[in-house]
Amino acid sequence: MSDMRAIGFTQNLPLTDEKSFIEFFEPKPMPIGHDILVKIIATSVNPVDTSVRRGTTDPLDQPKVIGWDAYGTVEAVGSAVSLFEPGDRVFYAGSFKRPGTDSEYHLVDERIVGHAPTHLTPAEIAAVPLTSLTAWEALFEQMHLNFDAPQANAGKTLLVINGAGGVGSMATQLAHLAGLTVIATASRPETIAWTKAHGANAVVNHRQDLVAQVQALGYPTVDYILELSNLNQHWSEIVSLIRPSGTIVSITGKTKSPLDLQALKTKRATFAWEWMYTKSYFETPDMISQHQILERVAQLLDAGTLVSTLNKTLTPINAANMRTAHALVETNRMIGKVVLTNAD
Ligand SMILES: NC(=O)c1ccc[n+]([C@@H]2O[C@H](COP(=O)([O-])OP(=O)(O)OC[C@H]3O[C@@H](n4cnc5c(N)ncnc54)[C@H](OP(=O)(O)O)[C@@H]3O)[C@@H](O)[C@H]2O)c1
Repeated sequence: MSDMRAIGFTQNLPLTDEKSFIEFFEPKPMPIGHDILVKIIATSVNPVDTSVRRGTTDPLDQPKVIGWDAYGTVEAVGSAVSLFEPGDRVFYAGSFKRPGTDSEYHLVDERIVGHAPTHLTPAEIAAVPLTSLTAWEALFEQMHLNFDAPQANAGKTLLVINGAGGVGSMATQLAHLAGLTVIATASRPETIAWTKAHGANAVVNHRQDLVAQVQALGYPTVDYILELSNLNQHWSEIVSLIRPSGTIVSITGKTKSPLDLQALKTKRATFAWEWMYTKSYFETPDMISQHQILERVAQLLDAGTLVSTLNKTLTPINAANMRTAHALVETNRMIGKVVLTNAD
């Protein structure tokens, strides 16, 4: 068995400490069953990476390898694999339960993998999978909107709280393509400009009163709210702004205090969570829908209908660049995505 390079951590150290990420060697894994072995060419850093690293309370015996977004080529396939063959270019967002993509080679179940778009650079591709899956599932599964029915969606309003982050800049584009009127939030000139460039019809500031600003645009309420930043902070605004029988989806899990769901009763509004990892975590029967979503996203990217949200590229994939990328994400001021790549 040969070895491969990997990047990991054994404890939660400040990113200014060189040991906060270390490079080491570990056995190269072999694919069995539905797994494919992917040679990683590019990976991006998401807030989940920083929260898993920072949530490590006790020192670990072995380095932990995280990282979810990936672009790479298929090196080998398990005996049950039917969707891919060696040499295929793929992109995916991985499983929460398995070792991450911050390594030279990576095992992933084929059912959550898509064929990569052909007209984009490796970095542009690696910026997309986790955020597009999250945005797609939130809008078209949890909100039950139909991506292919822009005429039916015309006139429906969606408020996206956190429009310029990784997920927001995908969700805004997808909702715009699906025909909705999108109001997104951003608080700085750079994030406001980015949000408008990614399909928002109007932008309001999440550091000021959202209710007053949305109503000043002429919308007493909105049909849908997608919450992508701080559920507790925005909860009372969400309750005020959702229309009767409207739908709210949140992706930000760690609420500081219990949510007052009772507040939605008179409006009989629906509240649903989105967790991009649910399907692979529980190996649900519809797990292959992530393959289908990524295939669709690749088509939209190749057609130029959807654009990659890549904003910063770090080369190569090493511990120093991993520290830089994590530091950027930890600012909570990201615009689009940061990607690490070994490609030229
Ligand atoms: N459940 C899931 O499956 C799932 C999937 C992906 C991400 N997530 C979670 O979703 C959140 C967003 O992820 P992301 O990758 O889009 O984040 P991100 O790219 O790091 O978001 C950065 C943006 O957040 C905005 N922001 C900061 N504070 C805000 C506030 N109080 N209200 C509204 N916006 C605020 C900033 O805008 P300004 O600079 O303009 O203020 C900045 O542009 C994270 O908590 C992440 O862990 C969950």
